[in-house]
Amino acid sequence: MKIVSGSANQVIAEKIAVALSLPLSPVDEFIFPDGERRIRIIESVVGEDTILVQSASTPVDEHYMEMFFLIDGLRRSGAKRVTVVIPYFGYQRQDHIFRDGEAVSLEVIISILTSLKVDHVVSVDMHTSRIPDLFPATIPVSHVSALPVFAKKISDIGWNDEKTVLVSPDMGGIRRIKMLSELLGGMSWVATEKNRDLETGALKENKLGEGSIEGKTRAIIVDDMISSGGTIANAVRLLEELGIKESITFATHPVFSKEAPKILQQCATGRVYVADTVTIPKEKQFEKLEVLSVSEAIARAISETL
Ligand code: R5P
Repeated sequence: MKIVSGSANQVIAEKIAVALSLPLSPVDEFIFPDGERRIRIIESVVGEDTILVQSASTPVDEHYMEMFFLIDGLRRSGAKRVTVVIPYFGYQRQDHIFRDGEAVSLEVIISILTSLKVDHVVSVDMHTSRIPDLFPATIPVSHVSALPVFAKKISDIGWNDEKTVLVSPDMGGIRRIKMLSELLGGMSWVATEKNRDLETGALKENKLGEGSIEGKTRAIIVDDMISSGGTIANAVRLLEELGIKESITFATHPVFSKEAPKILQQCATGRVYVADTVTIPKEKQFEKLEVLSVSEAIARAISETL
């Protein structure tokens, strides 16, 4: 078995390789002056089960192109199977048509992966649980969850108590928050209602949508990703208005676009825990941030299907 990594998230690729007791095989990548990319698989992969790790994080299109070329390189070099680990699956939020005339970007990505004859996809906390079903039956998808890692952290820091409530910052996250609640022995949870302007993406005022925070003074906000940071900042504001004194945040994918690090550092949430599905450049790291690894869960999902 051989494991290779694209350039998007080499740290998690190395951790997955260690968990699988494999060395990371080198890849030769050259970028021409015009930005075109040439990739070459250096070691022989003839007849091998191969694993490619590449997050589809910012710059998402570049990282996808690199992923597609690496898959093609592995195929043409005689790999028996290609498992693609996509810790953060870019374009997953565009999984249906929101307004007439829109492209379903996620389906385009799935079509390309299908045409490249990928054998297996592993990803983490996809935006909705129906995304794996959008792949053809020939490509099984292992959907790894960061929630057990988050639940352990919550127990370790003692926030799994009676005065604390789990919060989904939008109604679409109810399934996720219920799962986390179960992992924590039935902790109480609420969901807030979030609305976006479909034209601009701007967030509108939110309100409590389901559940009650009566008697609670602490909140744990849980989301699948943080992009602009607006969703978390709005939820923290609402919770404060509702009488919550202290909150912390958990989100799987630290996409951190634009001013997100500043917004998170300045808003009233306490610590911000994220998974290592996306590389966070030094300039986007901030004091409240703590990164938890999901590499072992990914390695387990890979091993289970071999
Ligand atoms: C949206 O439905 C997702 O679950 C996240 O809440 C959203 O992507 C976060 O985006 P932002 O940080 O830009 O508010």
